[in-house]
Amino acid sequence: MKNTVVVGAQWGDEGKAKITDLLAEYADVIIRYQGGCNAGHTVVVNNETYKFHLIPSGVLYKNKFCFIGAGTVIHPETFLKETQDLIQRGVDLSSLKISPLATITLPYHIDIDGINETNSNKNKIGTTKKGIGPTYSDKIGRYGLKIQDLYDEESLNTRLDAILPLKNKILEKVYNSKTYSKEEILERCREYAIIFKPYLCTDWVQKLSNAIKEDKKILFEGAQGIMLDIDYGTYPYVTSSNPIGGAAATGSGIGPTHIKNIIGVTKAYITRVGEGPFITELTDSIGDKIRTIGGEYGTTTGRPRRCGWFDAVLSRYCVLVGGLTQMAITKIDVFNDFDELKVCIAYKDKRNGKLYNDYPTNINLHKYLEPVYETFKGWNSDISNAKSLEDLPLNARTYLKKLEELVGIPIKIISVGADREQTIILENPFK
Ligand code: GDP
Ligand code: IMO
Ligand code: MG
Repeated sequence: MKNTVVVGAQWGDEGKAKITDLLAEYADVIIRYQGGCNAGHTVVVNNETYKFHLIPSGVLYKNKFCFIGAGTVIHPETFLKETQDLIQRGVDLSSLKISPLATITLPYHIDIDGINETNSNKNKIGTTKKGIGPTYSDKIGRYGLKIQDLYDEESLNTRLDAILPLKNKILEKVYNSKTYSKEEILERCREYAIIFKPYLCTDWVQKLSNAIKEDKKILFEGAQGIMLDIDYGTYPYVTSSNPIGGAAATGSGIGPTHIKNIIGVTKAYITRVGEGPFITELTDSIGDKIRTIGGEYGTTTGRPRRCGWFDAVLSRYCVLVGGLTQMAITKIDVFNDFDELKVCIAYKDKRNGKLYNDYPTNINLHKYLEPVYETFKGWNSDISNAKSLEDLPLNARTYLKKLEELVGIPIKIISVGADREQTIILENPFK
């Protein structure tokens, strides 16, 4: 059993999709297990760029069972657009399937997310405005709709009779926003039923059980990142799902005993979009340089990403709560032209000099903390064509070795460019 989870081990956009696509070649089943179209996952193959939001990044290979699990939230219009665009580009989606248990993002979820994010709201998180928080809130509150509800008009009617009066009252009285008639939502649901029909997987239990019995290789694709986890991230500046490795089990329907490896994908630096603490953030010209060279603008929203040095304290925490067994380091080529690099090895409390080697989960403390850095020499050469560890300059190898030591788990994949080919695989989890 070699089943492997790919998770983001920072604040998202670590390059998970690139790693998922790369490993998907060796997998039989690829599963997206949480999040929704807040995710923006980029895969580059032979200068062709694909941007996925809901569909697993393994879909570019033929005959792989690609599954969107129960832990996800699905905006039907985005799903339709994404599938149509891929089909138009010649991608075969006949093996793409979706769980009937996935939750649907309805129009009012997006309305509410948008209103919550207005500048006047002091609780602004800087969300993607894709309705993620409101959809997950309704799911947990048991006011959500699952894809399977679309195919039984009687149950759908009963559900909407329970949900809509309350939802409309909230929309009108709390949010001063447009309400929705039952007929309007029913009409949308009829359209959604058509959108999902070709992909609906009612026999997912048998399919996944068989995959396990036949010892098929299963690859789980996480969205967002561990530091955006609703329980373990920098709450409330987080997403509304669990991007940690453990959620691969709950979000897919495959138990944790069937998972062998959890790969934490980390950039050679860190980025974050949206609000929230970020101890190693660089608000100076170095941060700007990283953003420009790294192309650090959101895949989903186009927002500039905040940039900062690699934070080993945070990474060690991600190893613990994410259950990481190994790292994939991406974007080290962004440092091709840097004289020196820094890595945060501890935090120091500005008030009393207290040092933190372990990540303090109380974010109310973070405003008092500053990074303690170790400095490394840059390599000042282009490494984007490196094919093996030996092709990397000594300073790059020293930097990577130090990251391994500081984080405490081995680096098994090194990414030196956006293209599928620009990767050094030291050990393939499926081989
Ligand atoms: P994800 O959300 O974790 O899948 O990451 P995104 O796709 O949002 O952002 C990662 C960006 O970095 C994308 O534009 C990728 O094409 C790009 N990328 C991934 N790995 C590398 C790398 O090693 N070097 C460079 N220069 N770009 C990379
Ligand atoms: P991928 O999968 C980076 C961030 C948002 C915001 C917070 C909450 O591409 O790594 P939400 O819309 O989820 O309610 O927003 O989470 N966020 C991401 N940041 N990458 C992502 O996904 C993200 N998905 C959500 O910017 O700070
Ligand atoms: Mg992304």
